[in-house]
Amino acid sequence: MDPNQLAFDRDEEFPALKDEVYLDHAGATLTSRSQLDAVHHDLSTHLYGNPHSRGHPSQLTSDTVDQIRCRVLQHFSASSTEYSLIFTSGCTGALKLLAEAFDYQGRAGGYGNKDVGKGHDSDNKGDNSSTLSKNPSTINDSVNEFQSCRKGSFTYLLDNHTSAQGMREYAFQKAGKVQCIDLDIHGNTISHSVLSANDSDLSGNHLFVYPAQSNFSGKKYPVDWIHQVKRGQMPWQQDALKDVNGSKRCENCWFTTLDAASLVSTSPLDLGSIKPDFVIISFYKMFGFPTGLGALILHNKAAHVLKKTYFGGGTVAVSLAKQRFHVSRSSLSQRFEDGTIPFLDILQV
Ligand SMILES: Cc1ncc(COP(=O)(O)O)c(C=O)c1O
Repeated sequence: MDPNQLAFDRDEEFPALKDEVYLDHAGATLTSRSQLDAVHHDLSTHLYGNPHSRGHPSQLTSDTVDQIRCRVLQHFSASSTEYSLIFTSGCTGALKLLAEAFDYQGRAGGYGNKDVGKGHDSDNKGDNSSTLSKNPSTINDSVNEFQSCRKGSFTYLLDNHTSAQGMREYAFQKAGKVQCIDLDIHGNTISHSVLSANDSDLSGNHLFVYPAQSNFSGKKYPVDWIHQVKRGQMPWQQDALKDVNGSKRCENCWFTTLDAASLVSTSPLDLGSIKPDFVIISFYKMFGFPTGLGALILHNKAAHVLKKTYFGGGTVAVSLAKQRFHVSRSSLSQRFEDGTIPFLDILQV
């Protein structure tokens, strides 16, 4: 590129830089003037209302937000029949949601299990075709009784961001085993620390989380680990599955979380070929603006392992005040986005 052209673009597009040299793109990338102009033009020429209201302004917001969901999925080559996108407050918000909702008990069989998924997208058809949830407390009680000692494990890579490490605090309460592993990029185990292991049957659901790119070192980890982990082929998984009851290895019960926050700021990510269960991103890492917005992109077939407890605002279709009864919204994304979504921020994406 012509260096004069670069200087021209820099002054035009990033006037706030003045004489500064900004190198912290791993922290946040810069917002360009043309982005801000486009946002200003959009917000000052369209009437956007709260998507939970009725009327044209509300409908315009809902339709545009839906288009943005599809466009983001498309950016990552993810089909909207296969994946859903839940807006969160950022990558950390997405990991926290996952940590709170992941069901370590589950039932061996993972994908396509109709019993466990009742009321939780058990039809596996994705966002548009999911069924209404009944009161989750009623449904889950009988399932929990049946499999009270069945638990899975939580495993995270040493090189994860602290946002992923924090997931272990929920895992200490819910999982049968919590472990931290250090792997080289060939998947060889450098170290393996078991932080907690109880005497439960480890045939529940297992969750593995790793960064596609380390925010600390910039190191890129192979995305094909996802296939290997799903098939139980990584050497460290053999240890994870040993349990005191000697129960059989469970099939299809490994779930993968790819922390793509750092990777997608500079590299493409093709979910169509690697198919992780959960992917998390923060938009400011990609575009600089808006901040405070990210997403949990989840494979529709993995939705049944997320058991949500709280409901509020946009996530509930009906709730009775005097009885413990509520009906969750039908679509997967609506069920996980409590309150009013940050719609003006989403529109800026
Ligand atoms: C790999 C990775 N994961 C998680 C995070 C946390 O992202 P946020 O602070 O946007 O929630 C970051 C932020 O630097 C990151 O680079």
